[in-house]
Amino acid sequence: MRIAIIIPTYNEADNISLLLDALHRQFSCIPHEMHVLVVDDNSPDGTADIIRARQRNTPWLHLLTGRKEGLGAAYIRGMAHSLDVLGADAVMEMDADFSHDPADVPRMIAALDAGADMVIGSRYVRGGSIPEDWGLHRKLNSKFGNIAARLIAGMHQVADCTAGFRAIRASMLRQIDLPSLNARGYVFQIALLHEMLAQDARITEIPVKFTDRTRGETKLGLADIAEFLLRVWAIRLRSMRTFLFFCLVGATGVAVNLAVFSALVAGGIAPLLASPLAVEVAILWNFLLNNRLTFGKAESGRSAFGKLLRFNLASLAGLGVHWATFWAITRLFPTLPPLMAQALAIAPSTVTNYVLYSRWVFSTNRLRSKLSGIIRLATATRPMD
Ligand code: GDD
Ligand code: MN
Repeated sequence: MRIAIIIPTYNEADNISLLLDALHRQFSCIPHEMHVLVVDDNSPDGTADIIRARQRNTPWLHLLTGRKEGLGAAYIRGMAHSLDVLGADAVMEMDADFSHDPADVPRMIAALDAGADMVIGSRYVRGGSIPEDWGLHRKLNSKFGNIAARLIAGMHQVADCTAGFRAIRASMLRQIDLPSLNARGYVFQIALLHEMLAQDARITEIPVKFTDRTRGETKLGLADIAEFLLRVWAIRLRSMRTFLFFCLVGATGVAVNLAVFSALVAGGIAPLLASPLAVEVAILWNFLLNNRLTFGKAESGRSAFGKLLRFNLASLAGLGVHWATFWAITRLFPTLPPLMAQALAIAPSTVTNYVLYSRWVFSTNRLRSKLSGIIRLATATRPMD
């Protein structure tokens, strides 16, 4: 195999030479043709000049320069170049600042050889770690990014979704239109991972110890974080059209619920009774629309009667949650208008309903397999060190 290690650089003059030396020392124990592609965005500190000087007697060293557009943009250019110009069979992503240990490279490539399509140098599997002396701010930043990627964007199969230390088979990358990932900054990591998961790539995580840079400084900024947060929700919405439909249906259900509640109270019915009645009407309304629109395509293979029975039980659970919440709110805040309590109680019952509808009433899979998925997710989310 021909493998290109892509190293994006912006002002890494203090690191890059040492890193190239360290990488070269590893090459002797890797049974492949190794190349390094530095993607430098015209660093003012002259990083590119260091590369150019070394290139004269280093055939495995390549340089790509360009305008600074962000880490993701640099990787997209670097990957295209590795595939099309260098003819790489696999590429690696790696930082220039020694946060990623060159000594981990042979292990990662061995995992590729063992059949993985994508190998992640992971900080969040057993044996991996982030620096112990990281302040709360950085720890939260990193953990939150991962939790958002896993729970919001739904990439729960992977423990370290934002890792920037990876090896990827070229055949997988060739199936992706890289520029269409439309990722300028660090969001590239989850955008690419999401594509890999969509292709059912075999992903292996290898524990690595991420160390802090000792030279130069981080380039992660607020714009990167904003782009990241927008993307996790965008992925969520795109990959979960079902949920989107459910929300739209639910929004009409809310209107029905509140209208019926108001009408009943105006007609002299006690709020504590009007509340569940309004919910019942809204649930029936939601069922008709959900059955047609939201879950209509997912054929559960269940008889209409079975679906109806389950639907009624699921609705009852939602109703119970709604009523209990309504009761609790009116007890805790006696001065709150009942309509407000009724509206607030919609949130927890909506979640209850969605989980039961999607995983039980209209699901093709049995609840048990879904439950085991949730349990796996919950245990995998536990921080491991
Ligand atoms: N060409 C180019 N252009 N390189 C860049 C740019 C850019 O706009 N921004 C950053 N880099 C380079 C840096 O020079 C470094 O080699 C590498 O990308 C990582 O940048 P750092 O600024 O050191 O990133 P970090 O340490 O904050 O983030 C690391 O951890 C993140 C997860 O916590 C990286 O590994 C990220 O990829 C990872 O998502
Ligand atoms: Mn860094």
